[in-house]
Amino acid sequence: MTVRTRPDLETLPGYLPGRTIPGAIKLASNEVSLGPLPSVRGVIAEAAAGINRYPDMGVTALVDRLAAKLSVEPSRIAVGCGSVALCQQLVQAMCEPGEGVMFPWRSFEAYPIVTQIGGARAIKVPLTGAHALDLDAMLAAITDDTRVIYVCTPNNPTGTTLRRAELERFLDAVPRGPLVVLDEAYKEFITDPDVPDGIEVARGRDNVAVLRTFSKAYGLAGLRVGYCYAPEEVAAAMRKVCVPFSVNMIAQAAAIASLDAEDELMERCREISGERERVRGELLAMGYEVPETQANFVWLPLAERTPAFNAHCLEQKLVVRAFGEEGARVTISTAEENDLFLAAARSFLAG
Ligand SMILES: Cc1ncc(COP(=O)(O)O)c(C=O)c1O
Repeated sequence: MTVRTRPDLETLPGYLPGRTIPGAIKLASNEVSLGPLPSVRGVIAEAAAGINRYPDMGVTALVDRLAAKLSVEPSRIAVGCGSVALCQQLVQAMCEPGEGVMFPWRSFEAYPIVTQIGGARAIKVPLTGAHALDLDAMLAAITDDTRVIYVCTPNNPTGTTLRRAELERFLDAVPRGPLVVLDEAYKEFITDPDVPDGIEVARGRDNVAVLRTFSKAYGLAGLRVGYCYAPEEVAAAMRKVCVPFSVNMIAQAAAIASLDAEDELMERCREISGERERVRGELLAMGYEVPETQANFVWLPLAERTPAFNAHCLEQKLVVRAFGEEGARVTISTAEENDLFLAAARSFLAG
């Protein structure tokens, strides 16, 4: 061959999406299981009629709507093709080659991927024995060239969530230099009043950004749209590295329609949060270890029993998300689907 691709891509970990198996129940991607609301569906159909035109590259209507809702300046919002794209844009916007991107591990599997794609250096900080972010270890691991620190709360896949005091103590202790990114993909499922709103926390600080998505609570995973609230210069830099027109017009319209239907969607989230407590309670009663979770999933740190658990669930036509010999993450769904999962968890122990 006369051409060559980047040699380092050979070591790039692949993003493993949750599997979709016809006839099986998918509890593997932290999606909401109910489809879009009729009002949102109508707007999607209407927007589809205009797709011979390019979308608004500045995503103006959605940015203005978000800015009004959040009481922030529109210049501080960057919208992306899912918040995973924004994770990548953040690395590209902040890091020169070889500079550091820190994240807890295990956490959202895209962090190491976007770090490597962006030519930056990953600084992985192991979770505590209780499957939570180890904020002291993260502080200790900050170097002069650390540019981005991902703080995933609730943490995917363990569900553990930072409370106000520990988060503020951490932010107060982070030296000047890195941007701390609070990834709040699961924010709408939080019920603990001690968990702060990331944008409120970020408001008085010039080194904190917040990532949110329409994929989970708002039920638009298939349309790909998320946003970042960031210091103005960071938001501007993120727009510079964005693939032009990558937030399509159907996603823009559906996101606005979903904000219009927020009350109804948040009611669904409350039901899911209630189911989460029920499912966790039943799993604990069966004898499983399940860290406390504020997200729409539970984490079962099954270690070497993980592959067998995964196989058992598949036999029961349930697709969960297994991570090697670490554990399995299971999305909370409708009461009926959760009951099927609980039955599988029970029969696994009996088997
Ligand atoms: C913590 C976290 N951040 C970001 C994302 C990305 O979501 P999306 O790209 O669909 O907005 C996910 C999706 O699983 C996630 O778990």
